[in-house]
Amino acid sequence: MSKQHESVLEREVIQSLNLGKEGLVVDGTLGDGGHAELILKNTIGVRVLGVDRDIKAIERAEKRLASFRDRITLVHGNFSDIKAILKEANEVNVDGLFLDLGVSSPQLDSPERGFSFMRNGPLDMRMDSSQKITAADLLIELSDEKLVSVIKEYGEERFSKRIVRAIRKEQRQGAIKTTLQLSNIILKVVHASKKTKIHPATRTFQALRIAVNDELEHIKKTLKNSVDILQESARIIVISFHSLEDRIVKNFFKSEEKGCICPPKIPICSCGHKQRLKIVTRKPITPSVEEMQNNSRASSAKLRVAERVYV
Ligand SMILES: C[S@@+](CC[C@H](N)C(=O)[O-])C[C@H]1O[C@@H](n2cnc3c(N)ncnc32)[C@H](O)[C@@H]1O
Repeated sequence: MSKQHESVLEREVIQSLNLGKEGLVVDGTLGDGGHAELILKNTIGVRVLGVDRDIKAIERAEKRLASFRDRITLVHGNFSDIKAILKEANEVNVDGLFLDLGVSSPQLDSPERGFSFMRNGPLDMRMDSSQKITAADLLIELSDEKLVSVIKEYGEERFSKRIVRAIRKEQRQGAIKTTLQLSNIILKVVHASKKTKIHPATRTFQALRIAVNDELEHIKKTLKNSVDILQESARIIVISFHSLEDRIVKNFFKSEEKGCICPPKIPICSCGHKQRLKIVTRKPITPSVEEMQNNSRASSAKLRVAERVYV
């Protein structure tokens, strides 16, 4: 069995949730159940509705959280379907929504899941294995132009054109089916930066993972829906691991903190826009130096918090 996922910013998450004795927290990214366990241990009557699109995560978390059986509901699904999931679970009032974005250690560390450029496996990258399209399929199906833009935008990779040219050259010999095949193609055309020491395949793998799982669209949809399901003073807490995710969260919180958004010249409001969130963290909370030293994955984590207001 692969190593358990090490939860990040544990103390900060509990403090930010600001929970009472009872209530319901939706953990939309259950993973190994680390944060869920923390919430259950630190409260008496709070219940957790845990969601993950990876059935293996649900199975692992179910074992870990077995002693809290009467306070948990675990659902295999996508957090962007949160309204339907709540309805199905007969839940109405939510006191906290927690998202710890990205992939978990068991996903990254299992070669057969195809997320890692360090371990050989099928070029898969699906969080939900029942989904049809894998990363290998994307490399075949996307046009050159689209593939360049995916790698450039989702990977923030400046050598995207060069990488796609190399991918196409290789594909003329046969399909790219494995993670190491792709990572070796990238290594031939992109050199490691001496400054950051980041592996040259990191950005392309991030880009393909985001595209395969349509990650950014799901985050946008979820944030939009979440405001409707939170009761007064309930909090949304999001941990993101790269700037694309963090920007979406930051901009969404800002837009929902605004009241009227009519142009300044108009004397009477005609937009009807109401403030729905109050930002709790003007600047994101980041891990302590100690946490970063103990868990390298924590170093890029940013936690943002907003609170539901009804005006
Ligand atoms: C970083 S891990 C969460 C780790 C967890 N907080 C813990 O402490 O063990 C992220 C998890 O979110 C899941 N995930 C990512 N996007 C999702 C989505 N749109 N819907 C549901 N689950 C998602 C992944 O499958 C992964 O298991």
